[in-house]
Amino acid sequence: MKIWIALVLAAFAAGASAQTCTCETLKWATCEESPCSCTILVGNNEKQTLDCTKLIPKCFLMKAEMYRARKGQDTRTIGGKPVETAFVDNDGIYDPECENDGKFKAKQCNNTEECWCVNSAGVRRTDKGDKNLKCEELVETYWVRIQLTHKPLTTPLSTANLKTAIADAIHKRYDNFNKDMVDEIQYDPDARLIVVDVKKPMGERKSDLTNMAYYMEKDVKVLPLFKNQDKFEPTVGSQKLEMEKILVYYVDEKAPTFTMKNLTGGIIAVIVVVVLAVIAGLLVLFFAKRRQSQRYNKAQQREMEAM
Ligand SMILES: *[C@@H]1O[C@H](CO)[C@@H](O)[C@H](O)[C@H]1NC(C)=O
Repeated sequence: MKIWIALVLAAFAAGASAQTCTCETLKWATCEESPCSCTILVGNNEKQTLDCTKLIPKCFLMKAEMYRARKGQDTRTIGGKPVETAFVDNDGIYDPECENDGKFKAKQCNNTEECWCVNSAGVRRTDKGDKNLKCEELVETYWVRIQLTHKPLTTPLSTANLKTAIADAIHKRYDNFNKDMVDEIQYDPDARLIVVDVKKPMGERKSDLTNMAYYMEKDVKVLPLFKNQDKFEPTVGSQKLEMEKILVYYVDEKAPTFTMKNLTGGIIAVIVVVVLAVIAGLLVLFFAKRRQSQRYNKAQQREMEAM
């Protein structure tokens, strides 16, 4: 009888441990028992071991997404600048090279001959060059500005505790993210826009803002990366805020070195108009000259005939 109880208890224990070996921070992960270890495929027969007690580094996530995209699997995960040097990710996802600890390598080439330098968020911060391009170091992103647009509300939002509510929601959802780094929140009720500045001290290397920002991008743009498919819905006062848009600006410890980054659409349009006007002017001049010389030739001919 005692043996039976022991066996039943052992079976329960085994069942319980089987249940705990799952990857809460990445729904695509595969986990194996005893000892519990979770991996994700990032290439043909290339597995990345994951620490599922934390947010998975963005570099590993992007590698996994690119692999899933190549395989045709479900990849549906895939107010303005805070400062003049801030920039957004216009390139989107590529197949990155990661360090063993999940950091991005400073130079990325997406398996091509064309290379560029990235920041610690894996976002391009230089022009593209050839494979001889030098990237001295991985420049740290110390400030992200997250612009969230929430869905329409029937009653106006109470903004009294907005910052605390947003900071709490981020802390709870993204691996106990340090609330103190949620620096400032601005709100525009007409645009339904919440601007969240998340900053760490320059030179600080213990914490990372970019994994949190990436998980949030996925939460809002597509589907959560978490096993649990709950939405990111901060509770403000008595209201739940559902988000519909997100835009992330990156501010690095060193300014990016894009060329012509100030040559925005407006200026380009002005240049095009000026160039067209000059060409039109030259054409008018050319035809006017030609007509003049034709008239001159005819006059000359007539004079000749008269003689
Ligand atoms: C990376 O390469 C893939 C195809 O191999 C392409 O679809 C994607 O646009 C590239 N990304 C960048 C940022 O160059």
